[in-house]
Amino acid sequence: MRSNIARIQLVSSHPEVYDPCDDSFALVDALLADRASLIDHRPSICMEIGCGSGYVITSLALLLEKECSGSYYVATDINPHATTVTRETLAAHGCFAEVVHTDIASGLEKRLARSVDVMLVNPPYVPTPDAEVGCRGIASSWAGGEDGRRVIDRILPVADDLLSDKGWLYMVTLTANNPVELCVQMRKKGYASRIVLQRSTEEESLNIIKFWRDVDTLLEANECTEVEKTENGAGLGLPHFSPFSCWNYGNRTAN
Ligand SMILES: C[S@@+](CC[C@H](N)C(=O)[O-])C[C@H]1O[C@@H](n2cnc3c(N)ncnc32)[C@H](O)[C@@H]1O
Repeated sequence: MRSNIARIQLVSSHPEVYDPCDDSFALVDALLADRASLIDHRPSICMEIGCGSGYVITSLALLLEKECSGSYYVATDINPHATTVTRETLAAHGCFAEVVHTDIASGLEKRLARSVDVMLVNPPYVPTPDAEVGCRGIASSWAGGEDGRRVIDRILPVADDLLSDKGWLYMVTLTANNPVELCVQMRKKGYASRIVLQRSTEEESLNIIKFWRDVDTLLEANECTEVEKTENGAGLGLPHFSPFSCWNYGNRTAN
C-alpha cells in the first residue's frame, strides 16, 4: 500500500492552487504511520477541509481503498481552482470524493453533523497580518493571521460539530500556532490529543496533532467546568488545565 501512495503524482495543478509541500507530505506520512489503526477504525465518512491539490485526500482514499472500500470521502476548499484540481487528482488515481467549494464546511453542517470519522486539515497556518486572511487565490493557502490561528480557530469548532463519537482529527500546525494551547482548548471539549509526527524543515517546525473524543477527558472537562463555576462564585478563578498535561494524556491511550 505504501507503494500506492508513493505513486501519487500531482496530475493537475494551477498557479493559484497550493502544490503539495513539506506540510502535505508530513500529514500523509502521519496517516501512513497510523495506517493499521485507520483500517481498524473503519471510517464511514472521511473529510478534508482545505484540500488544495487533492494530494492528501487522494492519499487517504488509496491508503484505505482495499480494506475500507465502503468509506465515503468529502473534501472542501474555499478556492474554486483547488476544487477543480482536487477532482482531477482524485480521478487520475481512480478515486472519488464529493468535492465542495465552500468556506470550511459551510452548507454541510446539518448533513455531516456528528458523522465524520476521520477529518484531515492542513490549514493556512503562517502568521501574517490579519488583513491577508481569506484573500482570493493562492494567498488563502498560507495566510493565517495573528499567530497563524485565524482559520484554525474557526475550523476547530466546526470539527467538533462534525466529528462522530469515534471521530479522529489530524491537523498540521506550526510551533508558532501554539499547539499546546490548541490541545488545551480541545481538551475542554472532551478531546484527547497526541503529536503523531514532528518535522523541522529549513523554514518551519511542523507538528501533526491527532485529536479524538475521549470519555475520561470529557468527564474531566465537565468536572473542571463545575469546579470553575464554584470557584468563580467564590471569586477564585484558577487555571484548570495544565498546558503540558495533554501530551502525556494522549500518550496513555491506544490512539
Ligand atoms: C496549506 S494549503 C493545504 C492544501 C492541501 N490540503 C495540502 O495539504 O497540500 C491550505 C488550503 O486550505 C484552503 N483554505 C484556506 N482557507 C479556507 C477556508 N476558510 N475554507 C476552506 N478551505 C480553505 C486553501 O485554499 C488551501 O487550499
